[in-house]
Amino acid sequence: MLIREATEKDLSGIMALEQECFSNDAWSEDVMNSELIASHTFYVVVLEDEKIIGYAGLSKLPGSNQADIQTIATSPSVRGKGYGRALMNALTAKAKELSATEIFLEVRADNTTAQKLYEMFGFTRIGIRKNYYQPDNVDAFVMKTSINTKEPIVLGIESSCDETGIGIVRGNQLLANVISSSMEQHAIFGGVVPEVAARAHLEALTPVLDEALNKANIALDDIDAIAVTNGPGLAGALMVGISAAKALSVATGKPIYAVNHLVGHVAADILANGEVATPTIALLVSGGHTSLLLVRDLLNDVQLLGETIDDAAGEAFDKVARVLGLPYPGGPQIDRVAKDGNPSAIRFPRGLSLPKDMAEHRYDFSFSGLKTAVARHVEVLEDRGEEVNLPDVAASFREAVVDVLVSKAINACKENGVPRLLLGGGVTANARLREVAAKRCLEEGIELRIPPFDLCTDNGAMIAVLGAQLIMSGAAPSNLSFGANSTLQVTKVQS
Ligand code: KG4
Ligand code: ZN
Repeated sequence: MLIREATEKDLSGIMALEQECFSNDAWSEDVMNSELIASHTFYVVVLEDEKIIGYAGLSKLPGSNQADIQTIATSPSVRGKGYGRALMNALTAKAKELSATEIFLEVRADNTTAQKLYEMFGFTRIGIRKNYYQPDNVDAFVMKTSINTKEPIVLGIESSCDETGIGIVRGNQLLANVISSSMEQHAIFGGVVPEVAARAHLEALTPVLDEALNKANIALDDIDAIAVTNGPGLAGALMVGISAAKALSVATGKPIYAVNHLVGHVAADILANGEVATPTIALLVSGGHTSLLLVRDLLNDVQLLGETIDDAAGEAFDKVARVLGLPYPGGPQIDRVAKDGNPSAIRFPRGLSLPKDMAEHRYDFSFSGLKTAVARHVEVLEDRGEEVNLPDVAASFREAVVDVLVSKAINACKENGVPRLLLGGGVTANARLREVAAKRCLEEGIELRIPPFDLCTDNGAMIAVLGAQLIMSGAAPSNLSFGANSTLQVTKVQS
């Protein structure tokens, strides 16, 4: 979905939709044009395949604390796809940015669909204007909402992989971040077992919740909203967190926000640095994902530039550790062993870095070829009865992973004109990754941000703070009908 501020050039597209939606009481082109260009108005359009399929406008006079929603329309062919909500989100965010504390609107008394949408945004009926809509002789309901300027206390629940995380924030401030990991239970299998993870979440949830409330020194009743990861991740694991969040929401009557795990990793930076400076490139590297994102706006414009086409970076560390006879999780083990090795001893392949691969997979990653190359190297030596130089293999493997990760991330920064790189995920603990990223960013004049480690790995605080950003921008709560979405796209910040 592309949503952006409207310009005069959109007039004809907007008018076509105006005619389609409002026929006999449509605005004239002159009226619409003067609305679009007025200094006290703000219009947005939403596009599908470059065609305007929705628009909405807000007016706010300087010096007044009131904003008015002038109009909102979506093409009948796209109703029910969330475009109306997206437009409302954009308008309420703008009203807030303009320091309005109240928003008013008029709606046809016979348009119950629109009224329901407004109610989701906290609008209530405060009056009626008789026969306001002509020539149909239909009444207008006047509706109003107040903008909450206080910083919301948000409880965030994360359960997408093997960490049960519950975090509590007040606005951008961290109050508690409690994590229970089932990592040890997966160790004997050499990787996360979904069923085991789901069961562990179930067992950990209540104690982790109690501890988080204790640490934040608040009661469940003090919380303003609940945020929960609804994807991407392991379906069974996600479902445990989602069920808990919904139960808490129903029991306490607090609104719920279903948020994207990957965007949560980016939002974690708010807790470390106050706000996410945008645009930024984000490189998320963990046992579950290797994703390169272009974040122009945390809540409205996150783009996936590339991701792994096979193993995640952390997974590669875990699998190679296994080949080398090291325990799970492999990342820290390889880091430890590699310290004494020579990173250029063996030239392992850099996945998807050859010119022919770069054409199609410029920002994508592949680590399975590297894993096979390491296994092959070990096998050949063992067959020959020669000794494997563990430190050299570990250091050379680590170098190959880090080289690709950092090179592609820096390329993304340079090619998109973005002077900022944010790292997230468990692999950011890697000593060599930190070293190489710091060095190359310095050389290229790129600002590097790595939040503290407990905010880099999966946690509930990043989910809570993302929920808080949504609330503070005026976003409506999620409908309770949302479910777990293990392949949730990064463009969908809230479900
Ligand atoms: O983000 P995370 O804690 O959990 C998820 O995968 O969701 O990341 C765990 C991954 C594991 O694959 C682990 O091997 C890797 O992060 N990891 C490391 C290091 N520490 C943890 N990888 C490389 N070097 C490390 N020092
Ligand atoms: Zn993660």
